[in-house]
Amino acid sequence: MLAPTAKIIDGKAVSAKIRAKCKERVADLKRRGVVPGLAVILVGSDPASALYVRNKMRACADVGIKSLRYDFPSDVSADDVLATINDLNANQDIHGILVQLPLPPQIATAKVLRAISAEKDVDGFHLYNVGGLVVGDTVFPPCTPYGVVKLLEHEQIPVEGRNVVVVGASNIVGKPMALMLMQQDATVCICHAKTRDLAQFTILADILVVAAGRPNLILPQMVKTGAAVIDVGINRLADGRLVGDVDFEGVRQKASYITPVPGGVGPMTVTMLLVNTIASAERHPDRSLV
Ligand code: GUN
Repeated sequence: MLAPTAKIIDGKAVSAKIRAKCKERVADLKRRGVVPGLAVILVGSDPASALYVRNKMRACADVGIKSLRYDFPSDVSADDVLATINDLNANQDIHGILVQLPLPPQIATAKVLRAISAEKDVDGFHLYNVGGLVVGDTVFPPCTPYGVVKLLEHEQIPVEGRNVVVVGASNIVGKPMALMLMQQDATVCICHAKTRDLAQFTILADILVVAAGRPNLILPQMVKTGAAVIDVGINRLADGRLVGDVDFEGVRQKASYITPVPGGVGPMTVTMLLVNTIASAERHPDRSLV
């Protein structure tokens, strides 16, 4: 029998559809006199972070969201960043505030994230929003796992009652991902760097979400035939190629769905930031009446 070949989930195409809806929602807001506004704070000059920030601001412009960028040198004091966040919390024109991570070591990331008003925390990293995820009632779902949920929805991949294995337990992806799929009544297992014999868990997954940051971590023999494999990893190889955490060529012979890197989850992350910012402006239109 020929090996099945997975459907490749086109994150760019799904993202384009959602962005088209974003444009309509922004146009509606503008008809009501509201311009959605996002503030983006970048500390230091890490080229990857600067690139992410440029992409986010370009995406905002594309759908009509006004974005403002606040750049700080890498030796800025935490107090200066916190003062800017306080100003932005009170600014009626701003519906979303994003602090690009990672922050330099002299700045306590947790303190900065908690300073952002939970109602403007479009990244979904504030403790209040994290708590909301736990009880299934979050204000802003974090963008990357939210993007994965939207990809599964778009492909009509059922979640209820399925075995989901999440590889990676980060605050930004793995943990919120697990909570969001648990909320949809999946049976969820989280694996991480200290997990012994990763394959004994991954082989059980109907839906395997991998966000570990290690190229070729997931090999075909670790994947159940017919599984949906979502690769959140972004790794730059020595030869300059960008790859995920999954052996794409091998695993696509065994899975029923697979996301490519690039072009899978990546484009969805930025798109869900737009969705969260627009949702914030819709909830609080009074903030930017012109
Ligand atoms: N750094 C890596 N991923 C993210 C993200 O989703 N949001 C922010 N603010 N910083 C990040």
